[in-house]
Amino acid sequence: MTSMANSQSSVNSSSIANYNIEQTVLERYQAGAKVQQPSLCCPTDYDGNYLTILPQEIVEKDYGCGDPTRYVSEGETVLDLGSGTGKNCYILAQKVGATGQIIGVDFNDEMLKIARKYQQDIADKIGYYNTKFVKGKIQDLTLDLDLVETWLKEYPVNSIERLSQLETECDRLRQQSPLIADNSIDVVISNCVLNLVRPQDKGLLFKELYRVLKRGGRAVISDIVCDEDPTPTIINDPDLWSGCIAGAFREDQFIKMFENAGFYGIEILKREETPWQVIDGIEFRSVTIRAYKGKDGPCLERKQSIIYKGPWKQVQDDDGHIFCRGERMAVCDKTYQILTRCDSPYQTHIIPVPPYQEIPLEQATEFSCKNKAIRHPKETKGLDYKLTVTTQDIDCCSPGECC
Ligand SMILES: C[S@@+](CC[C@H](N)C(=O)[O-])C[C@H]1O[C@@H](n2cnc3c(N)ncnc32)[C@H](O)[C@@H]1O
Repeated sequence: MTSMANSQSSVNSSSIANYNIEQTVLERYQAGAKVQQPSLCCPTDYDGNYLTILPQEIVEKDYGCGDPTRYVSEGETVLDLGSGTGKNCYILAQKVGATGQIIGVDFNDEMLKIARKYQQDIADKIGYYNTKFVKGKIQDLTLDLDLVETWLKEYPVNSIERLSQLETECDRLRQQSPLIADNSIDVVISNCVLNLVRPQDKGLLFKELYRVLKRGGRAVISDIVCDEDPTPTIINDPDLWSGCIAGAFREDQFIKMFENAGFYGIEILKREETPWQVIDGIEFRSVTIRAYKGKDGPCLERKQSIIYKGPWKQVQDDDGHIFCRGERMAVCDKTYQILTRCDSPYQTHIIPVPPYQEIPLEQATEFSCKNKAIRHPKETKGLDYKLTVTTQDIDCCSPGECC
């Protein structure tokens, strides 16, 4: 991790020494699973149609702060980080349908118990079984904590030797039975959880998010952000940490965390105007961010171009390419696909200009990527293109056409 995103981690971690963040968070949400905690609830509007079949216990013990489920489609495999009682998972189970799959991950047995309790019941109601709840830390999605606990029952850690054996076993499990495999998920969602992770683990958390997504997959994250850095007093208050305040990302740094992890097309889908809480003048509010994986890879020349429609005079993508309004910009095949495919975040701003004669992928040469390159129309049409078409040649007067 680099620059500002890192600076937030190091500032916070040096200020926090007087309590165990992870334990504090775990205990708070173990209690929150047993009895509803109104102070942890940030008012959120879900699509009511999906709530009608959910048990009251799940509807009530909602500790989310946004609705990332709105941005998921049928047939997708979704991972919910910090799934709690499973509210977002069960909304999604209905949205993705029988061909989709939902995996909730949480490190809290009490929450997992509630989520798992209703799996069959909800499957019966919707007519298919497409949910799974697993135990893990969201900053280490390789390690299956249920498997670790099984091992620990047989080999309790009571010596340095046993500690070393545990570490070896964890490494083995990560390698041989990863909780969530690389490149296996279409959409990672999370609702008000990333802020709870320790500062020193936040970089790892974003790497994990990126690792598990398929190429072309996306993260849709609702979380609490702040407009200024939390003060040391706020950071050192365990209740404020577990209450989704002290660990909140500063809003500009939150975006940088996605950038630094390699995401592209990062977008603020929603930002609550009214803060959820204001402490010492610092505003804490909910945002929902979407970010895509898949801008790495070779750049191939297939004579494709794009025209940026505007309204800005020029824009820049996450690879540093600059697109000038109205100009025919030369792009490599990878960038062309990223900008123009039907589910692209850029698609509505872009006019694709493919070459008249398609170049097969196998014949494509290396594209020399420049930040700003304009393609001559002759390159699009082919140098031998000499067609002449006059208005007399075009029958534009048939009913309903241009005249
Ligand atoms: C604020 S609640 C949100 C629950 C759920 N997303 C919702 O919308 O109701 C945070 C949840 O994340 C879990 N959690 C917190 N830190 C975690 C971590 N590092 N790894 C896994 N789960 C975590 C907690 O146990 C709790 O269930």
